[in-house]
Amino acid sequence: MQKKKRILIIDDEKLIRWTLRQKLTEWGYEAGEAETGAAGLKLAQDGPPDLILLDMKLPDGRGTDFLEEIRKSWPELPVIMITAFGAIEDVVTAMRRGAYDFVTKPLDDTKLQSTVLHALEEAALKKKIAAYREIESMKFGPGPIVGATSVMSRLLEMLRIIAESETSIVLLQGESGTGKDLFAQTLHLWSRRKDAPFVAINCSAIPATLLESELFGYEKGAFTDAKQQKRGLVELADEGTLFLDEIGSFDPALQAKLLRFLETSTFKRVGGLRDIEVDIRVVAATNQDLEQLCRQEKFRKDLFYRLNVCPVLIPPLVERRDDILPLARHFISQYNAKFNKAIQGLEPEAERLFLSYSWPGNVRELKNAIERAMIFETGPRISAQHVPIRLEAPAAGPGAGAPAAAADLSLPEAEKRMVEQALIKSGGNKSKAARLLGISRDALRYKVKKIRGQAGS
Ligand SMILES: Nc1ncnc2c1ncn2[C@@H]1O[C@H](COP(=O)(O)OP(=O)(O)OP(=O)(O)O)[C@@H](O)[C@H]1O
Ligand SMILES: [Mg+2]
Repeated sequence: MQKKKRILIIDDEKLIRWTLRQKLTEWGYEAGEAETGAAGLKLAQDGPPDLILLDMKLPDGRGTDFLEEIRKSWPELPVIMITAFGAIEDVVTAMRRGAYDFVTKPLDDTKLQSTVLHALEEAALKKKIAAYREIESMKFGPGPIVGATSVMSRLLEMLRIIAESETSIVLLQGESGTGKDLFAQTLHLWSRRKDAPFVAINCSAIPATLLESELFGYEKGAFTDAKQQKRGLVELADEGTLFLDEIGSFDPALQAKLLRFLETSTFKRVGGLRDIEVDIRVVAATNQDLEQLCRQEKFRKDLFYRLNVCPVLIPPLVERRDDILPLARHFISQYNAKFNKAIQGLEPEAERLFLSYSWPGNVRELKNAIERAMIFETGPRISAQHVPIRLEAPAAGPGAGAPAAAADLSLPEAEKRMVEQALIKSGGNKSKAARLLGISRDALRYKVKKIRGQAGS
C-alpha cells in the first residue's frame, strides 16, 4: 500500500486546526498541527511533510514571511495559504512568494479537497520528472570499457557491430562483476536508439504476477488494486533498449509470454485484449549457465534458443590477466577525480598482488579494492598494505578465526584455504559455498578440481 501523504497545518485557531485535521484524515491524509509559525518550522525540520496549510496571520509573524522561509528550505514543498475572505493584498504577496494556492475562511470543503489533491499531484509529478532527468543523465553515464587484451579488443569490436546492427535480441553472459551492466548500457549508447530510454529490470526473485504487470502494464480493473491503467516497462522502453538482468531467474510461469513477445514484438497489458506493438531491443544478461537451467527444466529451451541468437560471452578477469593493471589504472584515475587525490599508481608489491590474485568477484572486486586502498593510502602510490585482499584462515589450526592478509600467504595457498573454509561453512553444499565466496558454481568446481589436483601431485 502507498504511504499516506503528510500534511502540516499551521494555524493559531484551535477550532480551525481541529476541523482541518478531521477533514484531512477523512480524505486519507495524515495531519500534523502547529500553533505558531516557529513551531511549524520546527516540525517541518524534523521531517518535512508533503504539503503545508499555512495561516496568513500567526501570533509570531506574518504567514507570508514564514512562507518565504519554507520556500528557502524546501523549494519543492507545496504551501497552500489560509486567508480571511477579502484579504486580496495578502494573497497577491503570497502568490508572488511562491504559494501554490490559497483557500479562504470559512473553508469550503470541496475547494479545499481539490486544491490539496492538485498540489500533491503536481509535486509528485515534479519529483518524477526530476527522477527521469537523472535517468536521462545516465546517458552520459557508462564510462569507457577498458581492455588491453586481444580477447577484449575482439569483444569490443563485436559489441560495436552488434550495437549498430538491427539485431533486436542480445544475450550477455559472464560471471558476476565482469561488466554485463556496462556492456548493456554501452550497447544502447552505440545504437541508433541512444536518444530513446534505456530501461532496466532485474528479473531475479520477482514472482510472475508482479513481473508481468511490471513488464507489460495493466488495464484499469485488471485486479483489485488496478484503479488506473498503467504502462509497463516494455512500453516505456519503446524505440529504446530493455535490459533484462538476471534472465536466468525469470519466473518460469511467465517465460512463454516473454517468448511470444520476443517473437512478435507485440504484447497485451494485463487484463487487456488489444495487441500493442513496440520497437525495442532486448538485452538479456545472466551469470548462470542457461543450458544447464534448460536441462534442469527451469528455463524453457525455446526461449533460450530465441535469446541465444546473438550471444556475447564476457570472460572472467582471471582469464585476461593483462587487463588487470590497465583496469586498476583506470579506476585510480576515476577515484582520483572523485576523492580529489593524486595517486600515481601501484607500488610494485601491490602490483604483484593484483596480478596473482584470482579475482572471484571480477572487475567489481578490483574496482572496490582500488576504492578502499585509495581511501586509506597516504603515500603517492597504492601500497600492498592497503590492498583489501583479505582471506580467512581455516577454522581449525593455528590462528583460527583470525583473518590473515593475503600478503602473509602464497596466493594459491590463501585461495585454497578460502575454498576449504567455505565448503566447511556450507556443510559441503557447493552452491552455498559458491555463494559465500561470491563466485559461480562452475568457478568453484574449477577451483576445487585445481586444489585436489595440487594435493594429488
Ligand atoms: N571492462 C571494464 N572497463 C571498465 N569498467 C568495468 C569493466 N568491466 C566492469 N567494469 C566496472 O565494474 C563494475 C561491475 O561491473 P557490472 O556491474 O557491469 O558487472 P555485472 O556483470 O553486471 O555484475 P552482476 O552479474 O553482479 O550484475 C562496474 O562499476 C563497471 O562499470
Ligand atoms: Mg549486473
